[in-house]
Amino acid sequence: MIQRFVFGNPIDTEAVVKAIAPSEGVPEGWEIDEAGHRITRNLVAADVVYGLGETVRGLNKRGWQYISNNTDEPHHTEDRRSLYASQNFLLILGDTAHGIFVDTPGRVTFDIGYTKPDDLVITLDDFDVNLYVVEAGDPAEAVREFRQLIGKSYIPPRWAFGFGQSRWSYMNEAEVRDVVKSYREAGMPIDSVYLDIDYMDSYKDFTVSEERFPDLAGFTKEMRGEGVHLVPIIDAGVKMENGYDVCDEGKEKGYFCKDESGEDFVGAVWPGKVHFPDFLKPEVREWFGSLYGRLLDLGIDGFWNDMNEPALFYSQKRLKEVLGSLQGLDADTMDIDSFFAMAERVGSLFNNKEDYKSFYHTYHGQKIRHDKVHNLYGFNMTRAAGEAFARMVPDKRILLFSRASYIGMHRYGGVWTGDNSSWWSHLLLSMQQQPALNMCGFLFAGSDIGGFNCDVTEDLLIRWLEADLFTPLYRNHSAKGTRRQEAYQFGSQETFRNILNLRYALIPYIYHAFMKAQQEDGMYISPLSFGFPHDARARQVEDQFLIGEALMIAPVYTQNATGRYVYLPERMKLLRMRAVDDYDEEVLEPGDTYVPAALNEVLIFLRQGKSLPLSEPAESTSALDWNASRVIRFDD
Ligand code: GLC
Repeated sequence: MIQRFVFGNPIDTEAVVKAIAPSEGVPEGWEIDEAGHRITRNLVAADVVYGLGETVRGLNKRGWQYISNNTDEPHHTEDRRSLYASQNFLLILGDTAHGIFVDTPGRVTFDIGYTKPDDLVITLDDFDVNLYVVEAGDPAEAVREFRQLIGKSYIPPRWAFGFGQSRWSYMNEAEVRDVVKSYREAGMPIDSVYLDIDYMDSYKDFTVSEERFPDLAGFTKEMRGEGVHLVPIIDAGVKMENGYDVCDEGKEKGYFCKDESGEDFVGAVWPGKVHFPDFLKPEVREWFGSLYGRLLDLGIDGFWNDMNEPALFYSQKRLKEVLGSLQGLDADTMDIDSFFAMAERVGSLFNNKEDYKSFYHTYHGQKIRHDKVHNLYGFNMTRAAGEAFARMVPDKRILLFSRASYIGMHRYGGVWTGDNSSWWSHLLLSMQQQPALNMCGFLFAGSDIGGFNCDVTEDLLIRWLEADLFTPLYRNHSAKGTRRQEAYQFGSQETFRNILNLRYALIPYIYHAFMKAQQEDGMYISPLSFGFPHDARARQVEDQFLIGEALMIAPVYTQNATGRYVYLPERMKLLRMRAVDDYDEEVLEPGDTYVPAALNEVLIFLRQGKSLPLSEPAESTSALDWNASRVIRFDD
């Protein structure tokens, strides 16, 4: 059962698709303190709190404070409170399952036993909110009800389930061609190569560098001949430049966010100074969305939307102030306090909180300060693209995913989890973020495999490809200046080839389970407790996951480990897989078991009465025979 409670005068975020008449009073089990902007609930010791989509830390969110405030945050350490997304749905699993969706586009703080271990305290900057409360017998049912409220999840094209290679710094056609050739020569399958900001002319959206990609249409066609799709990035900020038609038109038609004085707000991101399209206006979405058509016309059929929190390296106004304040400083006489004050002042330019209060949107006909609707920005950028694809290419699925998001955006695109690092802890995090994203409707999701920041090691990349074997988005991405991390760069070619081939053999299962979750508003990747809600141990498991209805996985996520303990809530058949046609099968009894897993081995567990179809691997999804060439069963 879902109920809606309304407090204050909420902004309609368009997150939900079902109209529910408001209930009187307050939701059962919650205390509402309107004056203090707080919503509180007492937790009992056995309660597990899931949800909040893409955040740091584990599956059970108890014991930390999270803040919904979409942030360009490159350090995903466990002390962070905000990442790029705000997905304000919590699921409390006790004897029954209780969900709450805090539907408000401003800042929300979720203190989940951080201040007091047994108190869940949700504090809103503005107490204007639609609260949706779900009561269900078990967690899967609670998620289903919630997802029916927010509408069906986005479906990507089939090829998007293939492996993708990305790196910030593929500078030209020749480099991309070389990446594809190297994968092909190594016998490793690949379906897509991502184009980061360097494909553009001076980082201007919807332009292509003539020097580096002189014939993108021809090159796209050439790559398609190789079974490879090119996926360009689009950034939220539009470069300020006279004569750049996107900027000129946006200015002329009043499509950009305004500052206090009604002038187009000036921020800075990769292109230098930019204006931010006001995606909250339908006509701006229509305009910006249509611009993707320029790339569709060149044969492009996938995009990733970035920097749409929006990231703000600095605002023009603050930069002037800070530069002004540094004028009198003198290196010869500066004392250490002044030095730190100067460094702090310069550092404060990035994503400054006050800057987000200094520009305006027009939303539903009303002028509104950005911070009041901040978390809707990335959602509406991606919606602009999604709505445009539905208009321009209604019969085709286009790959689309975004960095920033809010619930509602899941209807238009997927997400990737942003700038993680080549750390073992982030390998585990990449999987732990998935169930929480699924609860909020984001089924098409994945992390930067191998890690974006820092230098990867061969074993980390192997374990990461193994751990994320089932994530719908399966993309290796890394930052400029880091160690190259394409799979063919390392010595263990056979291991990489086997893992990537295994992914392709699993695609029919992955796709089928994904589509079932999409159609039935279910989970694709879930915590064990979803399959075993009455098993108290299963609730505590943070590093094993159910994939669809047939499988459990238990990734190895510590360096140098050659196995791990696995908790089995029931008898399962272990598949210790080295390759599609090379694996051990062993039936394991319920309980805790140590399971060896060498670096080249993946642990997959088949549930009773289920079967796992495997296809013959292929070099890309276009060549994949979707019929199973072998089926592994567990009939007992
Ligand atoms: C941001 C994105 C990253 C991208 C980089 C350059 O940091 O999160 O994926 O590579 O910008 O465009």
